[in-house]
Amino acid sequence: MSESLDLAALPADFTWGTATSAYQIEGAVTEDGRAPSIWDTFSHTPGKVANDDHGDVACDHYHRWPEDIGLMKRLGADAYRMSVAWPRVMPAGDGPVNAAGLDFYDRLVDALLDAGITPNVTLYHWDLPQALQDRGGWTVRDTAEHLADYASAVAGRLGDRVTRWATLNEPLCSGWIGHLEGRMAPGLTDLTAAVHASYHLLLAHGLATRAIRAAAPEARVGLVTNHSTVEAASSRPEDIAAAVRMDGHTNRWWLDPVYGRGFPADMRELYGVELPERSGDLDAIAAPLDWHGLNYYFPATVTDDPQGPVPYAREVRLPGVPRTGMDWQIDAGGLESLLLRLTDDYGVRELYVTENGSAFPDTVSPDGAVHDPARARYLEQHVSACVRAVRKGAPLAGYYAWSLLDNFEWAYGYDKRFGLVHVDYATQARTVKASGLRYAEIIRAHRESHA
Ligand code: IFM
Repeated sequence: MSESLDLAALPADFTWGTATSAYQIEGAVTEDGRAPSIWDTFSHTPGKVANDDHGDVACDHYHRWPEDIGLMKRLGADAYRMSVAWPRVMPAGDGPVNAAGLDFYDRLVDALLDAGITPNVTLYHWDLPQALQDRGGWTVRDTAEHLADYASAVAGRLGDRVTRWATLNEPLCSGWIGHLEGRMAPGLTDLTAAVHASYHLLLAHGLATRAIRAAAPEARVGLVTNHSTVEAASSRPEDIAAAVRMDGHTNRWWLDPVYGRGFPADMRELYGVELPERSGDLDAIAAPLDWHGLNYYFPATVTDDPQGPVPYAREVRLPGVPRTGMDWQIDAGGLESLLLRLTDDYGVRELYVTENGSAFPDTVSPDGAVHDPARARYLEQHVSACVRAVRKGAPLAGYYAWSLLDNFEWAYGYDKRFGLVHVDYATQARTVKASGLRYAEIIRAHRESHA
């Protein structure tokens, strides 16, 4: 049963979008001068990704983008959050620009604008050129400087038409999951490497912000971070302290420096790793932003875990709560809380939900439709959370559903489907799911509420 939503409470010019990222959809990994990224390497290493899936073809968006823009139009979305593949544009990670790589995005941006869809371009969604990884990747400072050069090249070419820019997507995943937990590329499990990577990622964000603004004066630059609300599993002091540590690891480490508070002292002490700081870095990292993008999927409840890995806090699996096909707890209240935290604690003045969505094991029914009521319900609950946050003062300007298409879900390969549009990977046939049609209805109803 669908939820009734007070969409009129959202601003009249609220942005409705869908989101994807380059490696997850493009395929064409050896075409037009693209070089390998760390995700090509990782996914082709046996055992790293479910079924040994990889992004060689993915959704073949590199060739099917006109059809995909048609799908966005069908949903009635007015914006599209996409990422540019660094290894297409600067295959060696630094040095010469590959014109054919940039041409692809140039055509895509023109076609989006012709279709009345505003592009919101993320520069780094995890596909570091392998050549840079071979020179130390995010554990070395040079990589941050190379990101700024690459950002300048992309903004210089597209900045006459693209005004919405994000530097990084979810640096937490690159830093912690890629370098500490090893579940994502480059697959390291080393605390020093992880802390240094986290530092250089945030530095790269700051340097790229500056570079984009210099290359494209009209640019409105933001950062996209993912967060969870964190609760203690009990009122035991040990669990409460564990929740503070997990909050530091998941939220404050990534927000405090960006909002001028520096790296949190309690976490610096906990990690016990010296930061590769240089004078001026903190100012670069804290460059005032035009907007902030929040990616939200699930909350966390934690217990003290003194023998476990940093931050010595273990997530507990609550019984009897609703979950998605990722086994992630569904809690739309977490989205509302985080939007208000960004507003009230960090003073963010323009906010977007840049990703939110759910995976379920969808199939195309004999009637040709994809019936996915659980995803439609998830969508409604989270849009409703946006409405509540706006009523309480959050300057929320838009919502981007993750994802336009089913796609390569990183270490889960193609097993997990997040799309509003189903993709049959054998034929590349696209089918708009019932949740996609529901999203179109929500967008239409919001527009009508302000007509
Ligand atoms: O698919 C990812 C995306 O690349 C980054 N944010 C979370 C999504 C779902 O796991």
